[in-house]
Amino acid sequence: MDDVIDFINTNRDRYVEELKEFLAIPSISALPDYAPDVARCAEWTSSELNRIGLENVRLIETEGNPIVYGDWLHADGSPTILFYGHYDVQPVDPLDEWESPPFEATVRAGEIYARGAADDKGQIFMHFKAIEAHIKQNGMLPVNMKLILEGEEEVGSQNLNEFLREHKSALGADVIVISDTPMFDRGVPSICYGLRGLTYCQIDLRGTKSDLHSGSFGGAVANPAFVLAQILVQMKDRSGRIKIDGFYDDVRQLRDEERAEFEKLPFDERRYRTELGAPILFGETGYTTLERVWGRPTFEVNGLQSGFTGNGAKTVIPAIAMAKVSMRLVPDQDPNKISDLFETYLKKVAPKTVDVSLTRMHTGRPWMTEIDNPFVQAAGRAIEKGFGRKPVFNREGGSIPVVATFQEILGLPSVLFGVGLPDENAHAPNEKLDLTNFHGGVIASAALYDEIGAEHCGTACKTIKSLPH
Ligand code: BES
Ligand code: ZN
Repeated sequence: MDDVIDFINTNRDRYVEELKEFLAIPSISALPDYAPDVARCAEWTSSELNRIGLENVRLIETEGNPIVYGDWLHADGSPTILFYGHYDVQPVDPLDEWESPPFEATVRAGEIYARGAADDKGQIFMHFKAIEAHIKQNGMLPVNMKLILEGEEEVGSQNLNEFLREHKSALGADVIVISDTPMFDRGVPSICYGLRGLTYCQIDLRGTKSDLHSGSFGGAVANPAFVLAQILVQMKDRSGRIKIDGFYDDVRQLRDEERAEFEKLPFDERRYRTELGAPILFGETGYTTLERVWGRPTFEVNGLQSGFTGNGAKTVIPAIAMAKVSMRLVPDQDPNKISDLFETYLKKVAPKTVDVSLTRMHTGRPWMTEIDNPFVQAAGRAIEKGFGRKPVFNREGGSIPVVATFQEILGLPSVLFGVGLPDENAHAPNEKLDLTNFHGGVIASAALYDEIGAEHCGTACKTIKSLPH
């Protein structure tokens, strides 16, 4: 391992230059205009897998964005890692809030700024470099590896789910490894053992066939913008509790021991609030901030649109109003069941003065794993090698829907080994990745393959096969 670490330390500058190339491709999956860039990014990723020494590298077309696959399967008798990550990124608006262009990666004060720096290009690139170091230095990996990189994570992973079902037998492995989460705090590396799920919907209201003069018609018809506000206000009570009938029925309560573990974490609530710029923190009564974010479900309004929003004043009753809403879910809530409950409740609270329609956009199941899983423990030792201290175990409020799908379809545990930071600005202007964490992460990833390679393996060891051509 020492020679692998030497290789990594010698190549630090080259890694940053190559990462800049990867970050320069605007692979925004949510915006159809960027489809050619997404395709170009898939090409770049597959060339990179070839460059670092992986085999059977393929670009698999789907109905949406391509899936990139590569493997190295010569560690006979050792376990197999199925590594998952995403090469697509979020849109960059509001562009004028970026201090440097989102697709011209810029290093400032030891952090690399660009869209995708942390979520997830920088973190998958860290593994590419760890793989490269093993293969270039020793001619081999200490573990079998299959890599799947998708281009639709930020828009719901629709085609990946189908791909996994179709290729279930060829994707046999012992453990999933993912780096797509922040660590607990700067200097506090962590392993994430729980993620929230999600259901995302759009509500559309129509009052009249077109906008109306608010003087001529005000008083005669309902105003959809106002009705939308009345509907939304009925989703939660003043204590932050969600009022959708049956919403909490399947919520797994936080155990006292787990709450005690959260309590021990070095969480500075004052600093958290100040960094967010929030006048005061707010959430469901009876829970701490970490409990609310990691272990309790939420209802959020993601966006609202209606009527006149330009400069000046226009006297109008809008014909339509729209809200995008989402609910973060915790074990054992089922996103489809929650969508049904939401639809029923929406019908119950919506007045007859407007037409209401609901579009279900996407869902993801919540996920939790056992900390004493041997692969999770192996990851803990690897983190210690890369970061010089033992990780803490945390849950996260975000969602990576495919993690539950891996569990469901392939029956595999996941190790969530993330090196981002809580202030990484994912999905926001000035996204960044700390380069010290990136380099520590390359070493930790290289160590992770050693640690997992030394573990006992399950049945997958005996039937290692690649994706069919
Ligand atoms: N990397 C995030 C997931 C994440 C964020 C995990 C923060 C833990 C903490 C991922 O790329 C993401 O943003 N996922 C979406 C999923 C959704 C589009 C289905 C999310 O959480 O909003
Ligand atoms: Zn991500």
